[in-house]
Amino acid sequence: MLQRDSHLSLFAPMYTLGLHPVYVLPDYSSELGVALGVSPNHLTQVLDAHPDVKAVCLTYPNYFGVASDVTGCSRVIRERNIPLFIDSAHGSHFPFHTGLPPPASVVGADIVTHSLHKTCSALEQSSLALFSAEPLFQQFYKAVNTIGCPVPDPLNKSLRENYRT
Ligand SMILES: Cc1ncc(COP(=O)(O)O)c(C=O)c1O
Repeated sequence: MLQRDSHLSLFAPMYTLGLHPVYVLPDYSSELGVALGVSPNHLTQVLDAHPDVKAVCLTYPNYFGVASDVTGCSRVIRERNIPLFIDSAHGSHFPFHTGLPPPASVVGADIVTHSLHKTCSALEQSSLALFSAEPLFQQFYKAVNTIGCPVPDPLNKSLRENYRT
């Protein structure tokens, strides 16, 4: 199950791997004109309607910086005993200040990804993948090595090439 407003980097591997997404629409604020993320109640409804869902992927925070109730969503997902993957591309900085929302790594996810180059001070395309268990780590790297990275990485590639010469 994917949020309908997930990043392109999630749709491409779904297509490549032949997976069939069930979509969950995020709430929307017409006042602010932005998506607000998925609420636990809405997630419960969609999961009840699709009992064959094998895993859930949520985006936290979203592109607009909205941090939805992923702790509540995580509880809903745990009850069903399915894995939760959080795309926290824009939330790498959450662990570094208590005034910020809880980091994705403490809300009960099985896999969390961070784009350190977005909100932390890291070189372009620096990312972090966190796993709650070793077998997930092995599966993740098998998949990554099979499909490769959908986003071009010219700066790191050029640095690697120049390092070699
Ligand atoms: C929500 C979200 N997930 C994933 C990505 C891709 O991350 P990266 O730039 O580290 O490839 C982006 C990029 O903008 C994003 O906004």
